[in-house]
Amino acid sequence: MEKKRDVIIACDFSSKAEVMAFLDKFGETRPFVKIGMELYYAEGPAIVKEIKERGHKIFLDLKLHDIPNTVKKSMAVLSRLDVDMTNLHAAGTSAMMEAAIEGLTRPDGTRPMLIAVTQLTSTSEERMKKELLIDAPIDEVVMSYAENAKKAGLDGVVCSPLEAGKVHARCGEGFVTVTPGVRFADGDIGDQSRVTTPEKAREIGSDYIVVGRPITAADDPKAAYERCMKEFVGQ
Ligand code: C5P
Repeated sequence: MEKKRDVIIACDFSSKAEVMAFLDKFGETRPFVKIGMELYYAEGPAIVKEIKERGHKIFLDLKLHDIPNTVKKSMAVLSRLDVDMTNLHAAGTSAMMEAAIEGLTRPDGTRPMLIAVTQLTSTSEERMKKELLIDAPIDEVVMSYAENAKKAGLDGVVCSPLEAGKVHARCGEGFVTVTPGVRFADGDIGDQSRVTTPEKAREIGSDYIVVGRPITAADDPKAAYERCMKEFVGQ
């Protein structure tokens, strides 16, 4: 899949009925959507196929992390679902990431974009040191994992929009940054702490922003999505 700045809506719903009712509000518009563990575990692969058939691009956010052989075979299954983007934990090491690419690549040589999670933003530097016994500063760990992902042939990383510029400086402009933690300037922050606006995310250099509640919980989700597209993509 070719890299193109876009807004991805995090469809954090727990049933098909809810997600379909939400997508129906968009009329003929077909936004890029993220399907996470909650919806996938509730509804299974059928939900991916159904949303794909409606004409949406899909980021399947399942964050794989297992031995290389298992990840390779699982990625082959996800690739057959015809998703556009999926992800794994860089902590699985480059052997796992290389196996993932192999599994994901279809017989015709094409494959979905593959993005790495570096350190989860819920992991503090303190816990990383104390429980994972990683002594380097967390920023350095994130950048080092991003470099490992790049060397293994991955397309990019999930990161904070505030880190996107640094990732590009270290791994190149072509290395994709997918960034959650986006809020409108006049919106609610909710449980996110380090947030930025769609406009600012564009300035810093995010390639894709993942936006959940500012769109899913809006009175008019389509209008909120269009505002996001205007601020981030400029159209
Ligand atoms: O509703 P909100 O805009 O906060 O949703 C953000 C989405 O991005 C959620 O699906 C959340 O799980 C995901 N995410 C995140 N922070 C990360 C990684 C993923 O908010 N570091």
